Amino acid sequence: MRFAYADPPYLGCGRLYIDHHDEAMIWDDPETHRDLIESLSEDYPDGWAYSLTSTTLQTILPMCPPDVRVMAWVKPFASFKPNVNPAYAWEPVIVRGGRKRGREIPTVSDFVSANITLKKGLTGAKPERFCYWLFEVLGAEAGDDLVDLFPGTGIVGRCWDHFRSQGDLFKAI
Ligand SMILES: C[S@@+](CC[C@H](N)C(=O)[O-])C[C@H]1O[C@@H](n2cnc3c(N)ncnc32)[C@H](O)[C@@H]1O
Repeated sequence: MRFAYADPPYLGCGRLYIDHHDEAMIWDDPETHRDLIESLSEDYPDGWAYSLTSTTLQTILPMCPPDVRVMAWVKPFASFKPNVNPAYAWEPVIVRGGRKRGREIPTVSDFVSANITLKKGLTGAKPERFCYWLFEVLGAEAGDDLVDLFPGTGIVGRCWDHFRSQGDLFKAI
C-alpha cells in the first residue's frame, strides 16, 4: 500500500515558514488546502493523513470526503501563552483509509499523547511518538510506501525507516 502524510503550514500560519520556503504564504489561502486534500484523495486512495489546528478544523473538515476520521494529538506539555485560557493543547489529524486492522492486530487509539518538540529549528516538527502512532493508525506495514509531503526536519521519514526495519516491535504503541 501507498500512504501519504501531509503536514503543510497550518492555515493562517504561513508566516512561520517564510524563511524556509518562498511560497509559504500560499497556505494562508483555504483554497490551497482544498486543492491539497483533493490531490491526497486522488493520488493516495490507500490512505492519507493531514495535520491541522483545532482552530481551523471548522474550515477544513467540510473540504474532506465524508469517510475521513478526526483523530487527535494531545500535548501534555505544550506552549501555554499568556491570556489564552484554556490553552490550545491538542491538534486534530484527519485520516482517510488505511489498512483494515484485523482482530489479530492490537487496537490503536484515535489519539496519541506526546509532548511537543523543542529546539528542532522548525515550528511544527512532530515528535517521534506521534510518527509511530500515525503509522499504526494507517495500518502501515514494512513493505508499504509512505510519502511525507512536507518533510521539514525529516523526522517522519527517519521514523518510517526505523519502523520498517523494526516491523512488529511497534505494534503496541
Ligand atoms: C509544519 S512544517 C512540516 C514539519 C515536519 N512534518 C516535521 O515534523 O519536521 C511545514 C513545512 O512545509 C514547508 N513549506 C512551506 N511552504 C511550502 C510550499 N509552498 N511548498 C512546499 N513546502 C512548503 C515548510 O518549509 C516546512 O518545512
